[in-house]
Amino acid sequence: MFDKKRQRREAKIHPYLAGNFAPVLGEYVMHPCQIVEGSVPLELKGGQYIRNGGNPANPPEEGRHYHWFDGDGMLHGVFFPEDGDDRAPMYTNRHLATPILSLSLFLARSPLPSISLLISPLSSLHRIITAILHTFMLALEARVGTLSVANTNVLWWGSGLGMEANDEVTKGASDISGVTNDIKKIGDKAAEERDGRLLALCESGPPLEVRVPELETVDWDRLEDKKTGQDLRDDRKGWGWRRWGLGRIQEDWVTAHPRVDPINGDLVFYACQMFETPYVRVSVIDRHGNHKVWKQGVDCGPAKMMHDFGCSRKYAILLNLPLTLTPMNLLAWRPKPMIHFDRTLPSEFILVPRDGVSPPARFIDPEPSMVFHTANSWDDVDPQTGEETVEMVACRFRSAKLVYAAGAMPVPAEEFRAGIDDVVRLHYYRFVFSHDAEEPYQISHCFPLSEIPAEFPTTHPYRLMSKARYVYVCSMKEGGFDERLGGAAKVDCLVKADVLRLSQKGIKRGKGKGSAVDKRTVMEIVRQQELLLDGEAPQGDDAAMQVFALPDGWYAQECRFVPKEGKDLDEDEGYLVTYVYDERYIKENGIASCDVGAGSELWIIDAKRMYAGMKAVVCRLKLPQRVPYGLHGVFVPAEQIRKQRILPEPLPPQASLLEKLYQSRLSHFVDVIFTRPQYRERSLPESIAFHTMLPLGCVFLVMALTDVANGHFRMYGMPGILIVISQAWRSWTPYLHRDDVISKLPIPQVRKLLGAVAYAV
Ligand SMILES: [Fe+2]
Repeated sequence: MFDKKRQRREAKIHPYLAGNFAPVLGEYVMHPCQIVEGSVPLELKGGQYIRNGGNPANPPEEGRHYHWFDGDGMLHGVFFPEDGDDRAPMYTNRHLATPILSLSLFLARSPLPSISLLISPLSSLHRIITAILHTFMLALEARVGTLSVANTNVLWWGSGLGMEANDEVTKGASDISGVTNDIKKIGDKAAEERDGRLLALCESGPPLEVRVPELETVDWDRLEDKKTGQDLRDDRKGWGWRRWGLGRIQEDWVTAHPRVDPINGDLVFYACQMFETPYVRVSVIDRHGNHKVWKQGVDCGPAKMMHDFGCSRKYAILLNLPLTLTPMNLLAWRPKPMIHFDRTLPSEFILVPRDGVSPPARFIDPEPSMVFHTANSWDDVDPQTGEETVEMVACRFRSAKLVYAAGAMPVPAEEFRAGIDDVVRLHYYRFVFSHDAEEPYQISHCFPLSEIPAEFPTTHPYRLMSKARYVYVCSMKEGGFDERLGGAAKVDCLVKADVLRLSQKGIKRGKGKGSAVDKRTVMEIVRQQELLLDGEAPQGDDAAMQVFALPDGWYAQECRFVPKEGKDLDEDEGYLVTYVYDERYIKENGIASCDVGAGSELWIIDAKRMYAGMKAVVCRLKLPQRVPYGLHGVFVPAEQIRKQRILPEPLPPQASLLEKLYQSRLSHFVDVIFTRPQYRERSLPESIAFHTMLPLGCVFLVMALTDVANGHFRMYGMPGILIVISQAWRSWTPYLHRDDVISKLPIPQVRKLLGAVAYAV
């Protein structure tokens, strides 16, 4: 009977909470990893690879909304000791200690509404409004000023970044395409100031500073200007809407994908709002923290959901695409979800000059499209016409299927029809500042570079914003990121694309959109690679795409490129770092094993030889626990870690999540053990307890009540009474935990008693 019930329950697990998408409870700090094969390359020594992603401390109950982009942020990092240090690489994973995480632990559920609720056409207006109001009321009551879970991206930023930090090497440099990988050391030579920091990001809040390599949360970093003291919060005075309106909630939000200029170290970012115009604001901060352009408003029509943008050395390229995010959708004559892909809108690309002076240029593509991530953007000049151009490589869809796929939700009929043959592919865009006075802003080219599905792009970190040759993407042998509806998208191959070769070939075909330049599928490329002799590399057009296919049953995540050190090296001389997972550790019932070392490894792959399959893996590290599939990461080299800023006082010790769970209410403990075991493997004692304690408790309770009714009491009724008490705590302890409520109680003895009880549970 219990097995059938268990199977029914397990069948309902959301795909993005099952298998290796399931959250982990364990937190390890600087735990040594076992090197399974190979050795750690010199370039990684002293550095740390860190990846962010959602890991809900309290996964939602069965049947509740969930989306891959929900969940409390958790960082997973591997620190590689310095050269000469014999210690093994060390793994750390920690939840980001946000106020929302504390509130979530306190309430035994997430206080935030799921993104799925905002997207689903089936969500009623009443349900959305009550969910949002409920969140705001909870946040207000708990005095939580920031609603971010910081679960999307990580970025390193500080004064030591940028080639201009060393004038000797980069005097007059405006392009880094001819500079060797030695630039990695440049920041180290010049900048004396130690203010480097790791920022965890999510588009619903300010950046969150984190200490490396222990990954301890420090505090929100609101990017304060050192001279004026101005930070992300608006200066709101007076008594009107501006001071008290909903716009205040979003005043310090920034994108999860800011860009750091590899030449001058500028931090370029934008922020989206939906309650207050202008809905999009662009900012540029120099590497010393001075605000160069601050919250410059850009008119984007209805409020939009913009996840990423392009950034060249001259322009911030805003992707004003038709994915609207506005409460006005709910109030329309024919109500739509808050997040709605409006097919009546064109795809607009707004090039905002980074100098903050010149007006933005607007480039229109009449076809609605979606871009979640851009790979690279750079400025150029057409050699024939002399016209200024900006080029961009991005992952483009023609529909919004991915938005729904990432929540394993049914796709609305209109999007389904529009996206039947839609695959997210690497696209080349060319924006031309034309000499034609009638049409000065033209998109002369927009075409796919390849047929294969491509997402989570990454590039050589020092070739960003210049004419980088290679882009590395995640892909799939079969299907696409948007086709696994009802399932979850998993990456089983990494691909290197020679975007310069492919784009030049595509440009020669003439202006317009056109078909894919490289028409091979992933498996066709893999078969061609298998025919190569040992040590032979693909040649000619075949070399434009290289696929690193993982062995069957293994899946990767977004990778990061770490360049080799040396002069006159090819751009792809370096390593790709990624977490991989062996899905053979997933049980038949879909639950991933939580055994120590259950299936996750970190692989370091030779980017030059991706065609060589497993022979390209130069190092395999066995990790002490499963690393769930997540979002974006960063590699922080040793030089940057040494420049981490010194905090004025040491951080208080941060309890691990398990400790926090056990320190929280007894009812929460009962809740985790008894009502949420489907999200993790249940141990034998837990199973025995689950199958025996509750029924026994109920029997004892009935017996105890019968005894009381008969005028006496015996000790065997205690278990049943304890269960009742624990359930009562679940309802009442939120009030008992509130110190300010307890402190206002009139009788000191009652205050003390309740305070002690609240502390104890
Ligand atoms: Fe992203």
